[in-house]
Amino acid sequence: MKYDVKDLKLAPKGKKRIEWADRQMQVLTLIRKEWQKKKPLKGQTIAACLHVTSETANLMRTLKDGGAQAVLCASNPLSTQDDVAASLVKDYKIPVLAINGEDNKTYYRHLNAALDYKPNITMDDGADLVSLLHSKRKAQAEEIWGSTEETTTGVIRLRALEQRGLLKFPVVAVNDAQTKHFFDNRYGTGQSTMDGIIRATNVLLAGKNIVVVGYGWCGKGAAMRAEGLGGKIIVTEIDPVKALEARMDGYDVMPIAQAAKAGDIFVTVTGNINVIDVPHFKTMRDGAIVCNSGHFNVELNLAGLNKITKKKREVRDFVVEHTLSGDKRVYILAEGRLINLASAEGHPPTVMDMSFANQALAAQYVVDNHNKLEKKVYDVAEAVDQRIARVKLKSMGIKIDTLTKEQKKYLADWEQGT
Ligand code: ADE
Repeated sequence: MKYDVKDLKLAPKGKKRIEWADRQMQVLTLIRKEWQKKKPLKGQTIAACLHVTSETANLMRTLKDGGAQAVLCASNPLSTQDDVAASLVKDYKIPVLAINGEDNKTYYRHLNAALDYKPNITMDDGADLVSLLHSKRKAQAEEIWGSTEETTTGVIRLRALEQRGLLKFPVVAVNDAQTKHFFDNRYGTGQSTMDGIIRATNVLLAGKNIVVVGYGWCGKGAAMRAEGLGGKIIVTEIDPVKALEARMDGYDVMPIAQAAKAGDIFVTVTGNINVIDVPHFKTMRDGAIVCNSGHFNVELNLAGLNKITKKKREVRDFVVEHTLSGDKRVYILAEGRLINLASAEGHPPTVMDMSFANQALAAQYVVDNHNKLEKKVYDVAEAVDQRIARVKLKSMGIKIDTLTKEQKKYLADWEQGT
């Protein structure tokens, strides 16, 4: 088994973390128990490029128990939990290629090593494996039955490939399942982003002007939780509907050029490039704290910031101080990488449970249907969403109502009016 982790001696701590997360992942546990008997993934090889966390570990265990040979590499160089990686290798015999803090070259060496396992299914969080299979490893794309994608940014890239007619195999857009983005993107990002900012800086959020750049599901979550901690929220948007929504949710809405002057803390969650740019850094207040919770580290123009930086030093773990002209200081957290996974632990298991139940069932869908699937981006079936939500509710001890016969009939009618 070829693997590359920081230190296998870290495994005992990792195992406890994996088990702790598992206790809060009831939907995935149920799928795992079923799969231990039925082995729906028997004979398949799955290469997953996901954040190497305790929650992901439980997905990998599920895939393995379903009969697959599963291999894991990281979808971000800073998010790997080294103890979890060690435990996956030592205790669960699942190969992992990931070391926290790895440089770009090692990151790609690990992705390539995962693809060297010759998977017929890939799983991505940000489409990096799919990108490799469409660029440097094109020939291997023929062997892929299908892939699954975890995040908004990845789905956007994949739909772009599909629209240009370049997609080489089917992909399931796990992100777009309701039981994924309503919960993971909103409550997961909301809580873990605040957790990341607090762990990195230990600043009080109450009374601060907190600028949330982008009001998608992640932005909504970040704004909601930052407000809950006493922040005064400013939202910036390019989409008029989302901007209206933010305003009616009670937040100030303004262009980033204006918000840059007013903010104490900035969080980007747009999935786009240079949304905080050099002119914005130049007009920020002394002491402004800037971080990103979007998938890639492109949202802050750090190359531009470095050019106007007179002095730079690390003042705490994950906090780098840039001194600009006039001795103004701007603080960048976690090198502009996902703050929630770099300085905190990512989303809590309760939401990752539903995201990864979708991932597991999407992999099964690819196995069951690969002969019929076209080179397209597929949504998760509504029935899967409904099943996951029902199991989750049950695990929380919550019961809901069902339609009466009369109500069903009424909904199917078009004749009954006033
Ligand atoms: N993405 C966000 N949070 C995560 C977590 N805890 N595990 C894996 N991927 C994540």
